Amino acid sequence: MKLAVIGTGYVGLVAGACFAESGNDVVCVDKDQAKIDILNAGQMPIYEPGLEELVRRNRQEGRLSFTTSLDTAVKEAQIIFIAVGTPQGEDGSADLQHVLAVARDIAHAMNGYKVIVDKSTVPVGTSEKVAAAVRAETKHPFSIVSNPEFLKQGAAIDDFMKPDRVVIGSGDRRATDMMLELYAPFTRTGAPIMVMDCASAELAKYAANAMLATRISFMNEVANVCELVGADVDHVRKAIGSDRRIGTSFLFPGVGYGGSCFPKDVQAMMHFASQKQYDFKILNAVEAVNKQQKTRLFVKLQQHFGSLQGRTIALWGLAFKPKTDDMREAPAIPLIRALLEAGATVQAYDPEASRVAKGIFGDRVSFVPTRYDAVQGADALAIVTEWSEFRLPDFDRMKSLMKSPVVFDGRNLFAPEQMKQHGFTYYSIGRSTAA
Ligand SMILES: NC(=O)c1ccc[n+]([C@@H]2O[C@H](COP(=O)([O-])OP(=O)(O)OC[C@H]3O[C@@H](n4cnc5c(N)ncnc54)[C@H](O)[C@@H]3O)[C@@H](O)[C@H]2O)c1
Repeated sequence: MKLAVIGTGYVGLVAGACFAESGNDVVCVDKDQAKIDILNAGQMPIYEPGLEELVRRNRQEGRLSFTTSLDTAVKEAQIIFIAVGTPQGEDGSADLQHVLAVARDIAHAMNGYKVIVDKSTVPVGTSEKVAAAVRAETKHPFSIVSNPEFLKQGAAIDDFMKPDRVVIGSGDRRATDMMLELYAPFTRTGAPIMVMDCASAELAKYAANAMLATRISFMNEVANVCELVGADVDHVRKAIGSDRRIGTSFLFPGVGYGGSCFPKDVQAMMHFASQKQYDFKILNAVEAVNKQQKTRLFVKLQQHFGSLQGRTIALWGLAFKPKTDDMREAPAIPLIRALLEAGATVQAYDPEASRVAKGIFGDRVSFVPTRYDAVQGADALAIVTEWSEFRLPDFDRMKSLMKSPVVFDGRNLFAPEQMKQHGFTYYSIGRSTAA
């Protein structure tokens, strides 16, 4: 099939490359000339495991190309995906300006029947707004489909190639059949393709992210209570996770969720519920807990040192999660800000996100090339992102490099007893301090 994907970000680029991989002809469009130039030069504007290889192969085989020309891409395509950002507006609502601008641009470029698919995360009713925006600008026939994306950054290709399910919101047989054909190669293992009305499809994406965010905030509160009553959150987590109604995934306490999706999607869901006079009380709490959880490591650091003035703090991890360079809403950002404000020096290491972090903090933070460079001369180490390479460090080497062997672990990478034996004072989340 001939496809256009408008918006070549974390979702659009992955979707475009994966659709090309299954034999479609895909043109990825972005208004950001620099991004398109990078891609046309054979480089990657983002880090996502496996993506570079996938893009290279499909470009070489002539199925995947990149352009800023929406007009040509739309004219040649049967199905057009809108995958632009839907950031949080000032009032918490999802800002639809990019989606609607693209809808109008598509309408101007149309030269016959097109299926216009909304892949961006958008509130209920957006498919109608997109339809109205297109209808106002063209006489050509079209169908609107809502096809929310459930991939996770860091495992995006696997998630896209082998989804748990594909959700298609459509009220139109012709468009539904084209979408079923397009997704058939991705669901051979038996994952369901769920066809529903657009409103349900749009809401399903928010409900999924809100549920996942709720689990994280719930576990963070359980962890905080564990610390107060002397219980170990690891034991509690395993005990409740083995109940099949609860399950073991996504039950890890930490330093709060970040990323480009959970924070804004929780806000947006509260906002569109409130527009219907519904107060989504749980999500209010989920958000408040998350905000507070992002301060936990800093509070522990302060309690340990008293004043942080003149201290050197090493940071392992900047990205909001491992295997990505994305720092949107990353817990590392408020932690670094608080440390700098308290007069500390920050030495940070991240395998992929240092370039992005440098764009935020400039030279107020020292970004170093290895995890050991970060702990050199440090009064303490704070672990913010659970990259695999942090799990088995050379503890003796760390200790010899640090000014004092104190670790604040926001991801519970180590066992407290193990850290005590290695000679560290060790703070973690929801477990007792080892010293
Ligand atoms: N990132 C994720 O993990 C994820 C997962 C599922 C769903 N989503 C949703 O998918 C959507 C896209 O997210 P993302 O993370 O890929 O965003 P992103 O910011 O990485 O990419 C969006 C891209 O759209 C481009 N763009 C904006 N306006 C444009 C226009 N008028 N014409 C052409 N290009 C334009 C931008 O330049 C940018 O490259 C959002 O609604 C998001 O909530 C994201």
